Amino acid sequence: METRVGQDLAVALQYLMQGQTVAIPTETVYGLAADANNEDAVLSIFAAKNRPTSNPLILHFADLPQALPYINEFPSVFKVLYKEFCPGPLTFIVEKSSVVSSFITGGQQTVAIRFSAHPFLQKLLVKLDRPLAAPSANLYGQVSPTNASHVYQQLNGRIPYILDGGSCEHGLESTIIGLQDNKVVIFRHGGITAEALQTALGYIPETKNKEESGILTSGMVKYHYATQTPLYLGFKPIHEKDTAVQITITNNLEIEGPHLILSNANLLEEAARNLYATLHHADGLGMQKIYIQPFIDSGLGKAMNDRLFRAAAKFAK
Ligand code: TXA
Ligand code: MG
Repeated sequence: METRVGQDLAVALQYLMQGQTVAIPTETVYGLAADANNEDAVLSIFAAKNRPTSNPLILHFADLPQALPYINEFPSVFKVLYKEFCPGPLTFIVEKSSVVSSFITGGQQTVAIRFSAHPFLQKLLVKLDRPLAAPSANLYGQVSPTNASHVYQQLNGRIPYILDGGSCEHGLESTIIGLQDNKVVIFRHGGITAEALQTALGYIPETKNKEESGILTSGMVKYHYATQTPLYLGFKPIHEKDTAVQITITNNLEIEGPHLILSNANLLEEAARNLYATLHHADGLGMQKIYIQPFIDSGLGKAMNDRLFRAAAKFAK
């Protein structure tokens, strides 16, 4: 299959209405979308990504009214967060209604819903008037794409169309939240920080993002978000002979050899926007190793560290 890249919403819409998969821009990362009401189309998402069908997909809607037929209830605390952060990088786990296929939820009774702020995706969803199921548009386990060429590198020949909406504004996946014992809990750190949620809620939401917590999100898979080149945390040991590129948040004059910087201004937001693009770039340099410095463990640093630890876990001895 030939993969075309373009900015034509009408072409994207046509493929989606035919039950095909299309890579779409969002404000977080690129998604691989299909008509959520078409089970064959949904199954072709898993096939294109080599993703296990047990790993559930997020449903994307233009707004809350569009989502209501697909869920049983939208709890009032979620309405507060919806007003504050949506459209934006926040995903809600709620009880699904009977119209949601179990292929989307991996057989669970809950469904993940999200309202993306990207104007292209907003327009597609309004025109389609139905949800798009979309995981990140990477091969399973690999680094998420934040521009059209990242998608092309991984999915060329596997999907008909990549809708090019430029580089993603946030660069990290959405924050996934759910409700347990009437309290909001974080299942995956992402674009909306725990601190921002705390301000809106009046308490610190607990994080439950380990495999033992019983709920499956890819945020919880131990080895994930991995580069092809072995990735390690910290600085390259001085006497190590292997070739390596080192990534740090801002300039560090002590580093010798290949070095990539995430934010000249030393800002977490800019680092987050550049993180995946920098990992893709580092991966293409043909080095034997990638070394990256972990971030401060607050704000967006939490989400970035989470991705790095899961990527590095794959290569840990
Ligand atoms: O920013 C994002 O969220 C991007 C863009 C494309 O929207 N999407 C994304 O999708 O990151 P994905 O599939 O790569 O990650 C979504 C995570 C998966 O780990 C999945 O297991 C989890 O959401 N998830 C989906 N439905 C769930 C459910 N019912 N209960 C718990 N976790 C769920
Ligand atoms: Mg993903």
